[in-house]
Amino acid sequence: MVVLHLRHQRYITALLSSTTILLLLYFQNSLLVFTYSSHSFISKKVQCDCSICVTDRENSNWFSERYDPNISVLLNSTNSVLHANISRWWMELQSNPGNYTEVVDQLFSLFPDKEHYSDTGPDRCRTCAVVGNSGNLLGSKYGPLIDFHDFVIRMNKGPTEGYEKDVGSKTTHRIVYPESAMDLDNSTHLVLLPIKILDIQWLISAFTTRHITQTYTDVPATINANKDKVMILHPEFIRYVYDNWTRGQGLYPSTGFLTLIFALHICDEVSVFGFGATSDGIWHHYFEETLTSYESGVHAGIFENETIYRLQQENKILMYKGWT
Ligand SMILES: *[C@@H]1O[C@H](CO)[C@@H](O)[C@H](O)[C@H]1NC(C)=O
Ligand SMILES: *[C@@H]1O[C@H](CO)[C@@H](O)[C@H](O)[C@H]1NC(C)=O
Ligand SMILES: *[C@@H]1O[C@H](CO)[C@@H](O)[C@H](O)[C@H]1NC(C)=O
Ligand SMILES: *[C@@H]1O[C@H](CO)[C@@H](O)[C@H](O)[C@H]1NC(C)=O
Ligand SMILES: *[C@@H]1O[C@H](CO)[C@@H](O)[C@H](O)[C@H]1NC(C)=O
Ligand SMILES: *[C@@H]1O[C@H](CO)[C@@H](O)[C@H](O)[C@H]1NC(C)=O
Ligand SMILES: *[C@@H]1O[C@H](CO)[C@@H](O)[C@H](O)[C@H]1NC(C)=O
Repeated sequence: MVVLHLRHQRYITALLSSTTILLLLYFQNSLLVFTYSSHSFISKKVQCDCSICVTDRENSNWFSERYDPNISVLLNSTNSVLHANISRWWMELQSNPGNYTEVVDQLFSLFPDKEHYSDTGPDRCRTCAVVGNSGNLLGSKYGPLIDFHDFVIRMNKGPTEGYEKDVGSKTTHRIVYPESAMDLDNSTHLVLLPIKILDIQWLISAFTTRHITQTYTDVPATINANKDKVMILHPEFIRYVYDNWTRGQGLYPSTGFLTLIFALHICDEVSVFGFGATSDGIWHHYFEETLTSYESGVHAGIFENETIYRLQQENKILMYKGWT
């Protein structure tokens, strides 16, 4: 009887303590739920499903002043009409403007005409790697890390073949203009950066008549690329980057800088690789010996550099600077 009583008591003690633990867990949970919901109440809407979202406007006034979530990033047939101001500025960049309306009409009988990347929301976490062509990628072993991102956005002639360890092998988007174009594989989006109407004419020609072989220099008559994945940056977007992000410095923004801002508009989380100089201050491309310059005639290199640095300070991008 005594034994039984003891056992019973032990049983009750065990039951009580597990209940206490359960209760504690229960309250802890509701405490967590409580802090979580009051936190999201304070920071208003959850912008995306990543831990830090580009479009979280609450955390940087500097960013919100510049970032326009409503800007047309990519051209399509319904948003193609240009504001007089933008049209004037864009036309002045070129020596022989063609007929923009005519060119745009042809464009969308050939390439997809739709709204891309309008699926932003609290359930999306799209991670992007923007890969520049800096020599600081050499020896970085960033390849696997770069390929791990949902989108890998490269620019101009930066190759992957032979450099996979350091730059990765995946390319979902490549930003090019006729003078910097190269063959792409079938899964890559060709994203044209049109500095002039002739660039758009070249794009059409490259997929049809192949008659344009010269701009201010020789350009390929055609390239391998998937026609169904062609996209064109909106001239209005280029102007917006120029106004809001480089504050009218230089003639127009560099490809690298435009690509970075492009990523801020189509991604939730942006990592940046291969920008800037090597640690001993040398500016060159990882795939060639020739030295490059961050301050070329037409771009505002120093200002762009400072803006990129600021984006990093404001937690809008993650910079990977390599080791060399
Ligand atoms: C963007 O557009 C939405 C709806 O048209 C509007 O409510 C919002 O104020 C706009 N945002 C900015 C920064 O212009
Ligand atoms: C066009 O530019 C003029 C001066 O350059 C400016 O006053 C005007 O507000 C601009 N209009 C638009 C729609 O941006
Ligand atoms: C451009 O082409 C369209 C349609 O062919 C024509 O109506 C328009 O007048 C042309 N614009 C210029 C500036 O030549
Ligand atoms: C073109 O893009 C705009 C946004 O810039 C979008 O509102 C519109 O629906 C798109 N048009 C087509 C045909 O997809
Ligand atoms: C490339 O992809 C398209 C569909 O987007 C397909 O129709 C075409 O056959 C593919 N070409 C090659 C060479 O795989
Ligand atoms: C950014 O662009 C919007 C319109 O696209 C404009 O209203 C705003 O003043 C710009 N901000 C800066 C800092 O240039
Ligand atoms: C770019 O900006 C960083 C941070 O302000 C600075 O350390 C670096 O010297 C700048 N590089 C150039 C070339 O201006």
